[in-house]
Amino acid sequence: MNSEASIAACATALRAALNRAAYQYYTLDAPEIPDAEYDRLFRELQAIEAAHPELRTPDSPTQRVGGAVLPGFTPVRHAVPMLSIRTETDTTPAGAEKFDEQVRNYLASEQRRTALKAGDARHRAEPLGPVAQAVLAGQPIGYVAEPKFDGLAISLRYENGVLVQAATRGDGETGEDVTQNIRTIRQIPLRLDGAVERSALSVGREQPEPSRNAPRLTLNPPAVLEVRGEVYMRRDDFEALNERMRERMAAGDKAAKTFVNPRNAAAGAVRQLDPGIAAERPLSFFAYGLGEVTPPADGGPDFQSHWQVLQALKSWGFPVSALARQAQGASELIAFHTHVAAERDQLPFDIDGVVYKVDALELQRELGFVSREPRWAVAHKYPAQEQLTTVQAIDVQVGRTGKLTPVAKLAPVFVGGVTVTNATLHNELEARRKDVRVGDTVVVRRAGDVIPEVVSVLPDKRAAGAPEFSMPTHCPVCGSDVVREEGEADHRCTGGIFCPAQRKQALLHFASRRAMDIEGLGEKLVDQLVDGNVVRTLPDLYRMGFVSLAALDRMAAKSAQNLLDALEKSKQTTLGRFLFALGIRHVGETTAKDLARHFGTLDAIMAAGTDQLLQTPDVGPVVAESIHTFFAQPHNREVVEQLCAVGIHWPEGEPAPAALLPLAGKTFVLTGTLPSLSRDDAKALLEAQGAKVSGSVSKKTHYVVAGEEAGSKLDKARELGVPVIDEDGMRALLGGSGV
Ligand code: IVH
Repeated sequence: MNSEASIAACATALRAALNRAAYQYYTLDAPEIPDAEYDRLFRELQAIEAAHPELRTPDSPTQRVGGAVLPGFTPVRHAVPMLSIRTETDTTPAGAEKFDEQVRNYLASEQRRTALKAGDARHRAEPLGPVAQAVLAGQPIGYVAEPKFDGLAISLRYENGVLVQAATRGDGETGEDVTQNIRTIRQIPLRLDGAVERSALSVGREQPEPSRNAPRLTLNPPAVLEVRGEVYMRRDDFEALNERMRERMAAGDKAAKTFVNPRNAAAGAVRQLDPGIAAERPLSFFAYGLGEVTPPADGGPDFQSHWQVLQALKSWGFPVSALARQAQGASELIAFHTHVAAERDQLPFDIDGVVYKVDALELQRELGFVSREPRWAVAHKYPAQEQLTTVQAIDVQVGRTGKLTPVAKLAPVFVGGVTVTNATLHNELEARRKDVRVGDTVVVRRAGDVIPEVVSVLPDKRAAGAPEFSMPTHCPVCGSDVVREEGEADHRCTGGIFCPAQRKQALLHFASRRAMDIEGLGEKLVDQLVDGNVVRTLPDLYRMGFVSLAALDRMAAKSAQNLLDALEKSKQTTLGRFLFALGIRHVGETTAKDLARHFGTLDAIMAAGTDQLLQTPDVGPVVAESIHTFFAQPHNREVVEQLCAVGIHWPEGEPAPAALLPLAGKTFVLTGTLPSLSRDDAKALLEAQGAKVSGSVSKKTHYVVAGEEAGSKLDKARELGVPVIDEDGMRALLGGSGV
């Protein structure tokens, strides 16, 4: 084949692959390849077509905007087209500078064109307006920066304040009527009541008021109002939905299926022909723009800026992201990009980037559009949260408690901002359900602080004869029998501390930051210590001498001394940390602290029967039993004694009797992003005052501390009448002890 023919064949193959992917994505809501892969193929085709325009076909995926209308939905023609925005694929902050420069350059070229036109009698020259003039005189451009929500674009049409129609974007010109399904989203008002009390809208989500000469906005919604925004699914709602689906599948429900990510779950729910099913899928909404609106001449609002639009949307009762900000010039866009990137993992929903929009509507009009994309907006991406890679092996890891976890070893892939080489397959059931096999091409997802996961397999790319995965019958580390207890999904090694894997994990856990905090005792070193038989039990750690350490491979004298120093330092600890470090099953950090607080001394805990243990706040029968069994084993008691004998100690009488601390007996729940404190810091401040910090809101919760983007926990607090406070309120309760 000559090279031209091969380029043509390449373009045809790319078009076929993209069409297939688009059909799976838009029409079936069940994509096989990640977006990043689609984008890569799309750019490849674009590049070929740019170099060889003769190869461009009218039906090429590069020639159209969106998806096809699913049979069963009524088509809706959008009065104002739903456009898409240009994407800046440079994921570094420099992408923001590029956009700012493009806007400026365009305005400068427009000015020149207008000047040229002015000399031409056939044209009426329209000079640039005052905002553009100011920009050209060197003023920074005013922008609004928003998160780019990863969901499904929707247009909501209100007539005389009543929701009359909701439509998907479709191909931008024509979408699908999904009104019935959208009505199930509680965040979307069915009727706009005009003046909504501001306080009702903004508890814990306060935003700066519109600035810079903002005229007072009429709160009465105009006769015709189209609100554009994104329907999405929160991560916690997505996890819970998939969990329900897994339960239904385990119970034999053939109609149940899990979703690969929140966006597909949201899209599937919105484009569900049965509104009853849509209603079972918890969806959320953010408004970010307008479509058709009654013009000012007919009594409609006369907005001057996009920021005013967002404020009006809020006042009409639509959720508007609390992360949206006004930003002056490229430097503030960069700051926003960096700030949101740092928050991304903690947000309750997926975002795939941020969006910058020129704020002044006058400037937006002047900038106009190029090939159906506004020049005044850009999407600035973050590293994708899903990527394709291949499975090189499926290892079975043995955890501290003996649990066997199948882990897919992957060809290294950059996803969600980090290079991923391992992804958990959870357990045998999950591995089989997804049917992951060695050699498979898989989609890996890493979103939030969740551990990377294989979400699906591309069956077409599987080599013939690849065997199904099954759990080993013997521990891959120590050879002991593997058992699966009845009613449990997990397999376990029966080797106990005899199993070096469990020993290694026990050591790593013991040394971890929240436990004994032994700096420098990481995975590689623990491997060496256990494999070389230097350390067999926890107390052995403290018995190592300089000579045995310095004799280890790749261990410099300085590192050996540093480790000895770190070990020495770790001896001074707290009872809570020590208990947590022992790695008793079901005893997490919080339970360990609760026990320390309740009993005061280690002897009291070791002597306690299950009944006494049950007196500890939040300790139930399973936990009590586990603690009791642990301390009933002579070898465990011996380990504890030896650890104390090598010098581990905690302040006498510590912790202070809990009842004396100012916040003793009070339970707090933290939700959303606090303005100046991380979750961990807020938790530590509260706990230092005797408070308990819990993960879920119940009637027993005393306070919910809500920050930006607080979600279902805030709703729950309101529902139960639990007091909601912000960071300042929390600091007030801390009585000035918080920094
Ligand atoms: S503005 C003309 N703002 O990104 C500009 N879009 O191609 C219209 N999106 O499908 C879009 N977050 O669904 C805008 N804050 C945001 C957005 C946003 C997500 C989606 C939107 C559209 C795509 C843009």
